[in-house]
Amino acid sequence: MYNQLISKDIKLAVVGLGYVGLPLALEFARHFSVIGYDIKEKNLTMLRNAVDPSGELKADSFKNRDILYTSKLSDLETANFFIVAVPTPIDRYNKPDLHPLLSATTAVAKVLHKGDYVIYESTVYPGCTTEECVPILEKLSGLKYMEDFKVGYSPERINPGDAEHSLQNTIKIVSACDDASLDEVAKIYETVVAAGVHRAPDIRVAEAAKIIENTQRDVNIALMNELSIIFNRLGINTYDVIKAAGTKWNFVQYTPGLVGGHCIGVDPYYMVHKAAELKYHPQMIASGRFVNDSMGGYIAKQTVKKLLANDMPMEKARVLIMGITYKENVSDIRNSKVADIVAELLSYRVLVDVVDPNAEPQAVQEEYNITLAPAPTPKYHAVIIAVPHREYLTLTEADLQKLLVPNGLVVDIRGLFRTKITHLQYWSL
Ligand SMILES: NC(=O)c1ccc[n+]([C@@H]2O[C@H](COP(=O)([O-])OP(=O)(O)OC[C@H]3O[C@@H](n4cnc5c(N)ncnc54)[C@H](O)[C@@H]3O)[C@@H](O)[C@H]2O)c1
Repeated sequence: MYNQLISKDIKLAVVGLGYVGLPLALEFARHFSVIGYDIKEKNLTMLRNAVDPSGELKADSFKNRDILYTSKLSDLETANFFIVAVPTPIDRYNKPDLHPLLSATTAVAKVLHKGDYVIYESTVYPGCTTEECVPILEKLSGLKYMEDFKVGYSPERINPGDAEHSLQNTIKIVSACDDASLDEVAKIYETVVAAGVHRAPDIRVAEAAKIIENTQRDVNIALMNELSIIFNRLGINTYDVIKAAGTKWNFVQYTPGLVGGHCIGVDPYYMVHKAAELKYHPQMIASGRFVNDSMGGYIAKQTVKKLLANDMPMEKARVLIMGITYKENVSDIRNSKVADIVAELLSYRVLVDVVDPNAEPQAVQEEYNITLAPAPTPKYHAVIIAVPHREYLTLTEADLQKLLVPNGLVVDIRGLFRTKITHLQYWSL
């Protein structure tokens, strides 16, 4: 397979050209002939013009690449090595929503040939690839798994907004259905991952590894969030406690905060789902989710409490929220927990303005029914610095003072301004 790809006798297809699929497709397109397949026509048009819809990649990343952007199954059919990188979200009941994954699998199954490989990169619970995807591949192609086609799993570790950890310099886990295909899959990924690959002994091991990377982070952040609730009652600052504890060699520096996005706040639910099927009801993982999912409401209530304590009239209170993306320096608004803060504040009839230098206003409107303000319109009774985009880091106490009424409150979720604010009212997690 590798030899045919490198000699361009056959093609590699990436199905789903989003945060994960696009950089991968472009990297492979330096070496192989690539079919970039997606169902979003609007995005395909942007890609043909060397524009990344997510804004992560510069035009340079598109130069000198052998890639065809398409939504046609007839183009997909020209490939023999398929990589699936479509979304794996949760539904409104926090259950895995496998629709995009199964629909992408259906597309691949329709064009699968004898001898082909299908590698999944979408984050799933252990067992999903072989239990849910392989039967569709077999049924629609009429081919036999392992005998006629091979399957593998290689989770993605990219971190949007992070210039330090890239596809090329981060070890990639690879797995496949047998040893011979694992060798091929490893060799193909080694072409683009300079840091090398880790060969997992089994597809389920690779699936589980991805899930626990994010579950571990979720549970640890939840612990810090819970501690911050306790420290708030004690009247001490969590970040001061963490700084002090961090002087011990084996203290791991997690910090409290909002856990949104499509990975850390979602993947643990995939594990909870699989565990429930096995008649085990995980307590730690579910508790972590409960704590982290409650933080938006908690932060809003604390803001309201502080405003009331300050004799601010609740019905006329104005609050500015700075940042709505799921984390700093990205434009991605999926699963933003800032929307929870807004909803809770509105339930107290507080007037809320939200600004964000990176978020796309139309996307925010469609997803959350929140109209982004083009700019702050002072004066506010409270300013919540929710997402520490680089544009906000240089704000001074004087800048914040200009936004606030006298005796106004700064809520600094990530505690980044705690040494800067000396006169204004201040609260952080
Ligand atoms: N974004 C990250 O930081 C990250 C990191 C690691 C793993 N992951 C995982 O990788 C997977 C992809 O995530 P993402 O962030 O790249 O998603 P994304 O939403 O950015 O992109 C997914 C792309 O798939 C396309 N798509 C949806 N259904 C399709 C179908 N049936 N056929 C073809 N294309 C289809 C969409 O149009 C979109 O362009 C998810 O499982 C996610 O959990 C994401």
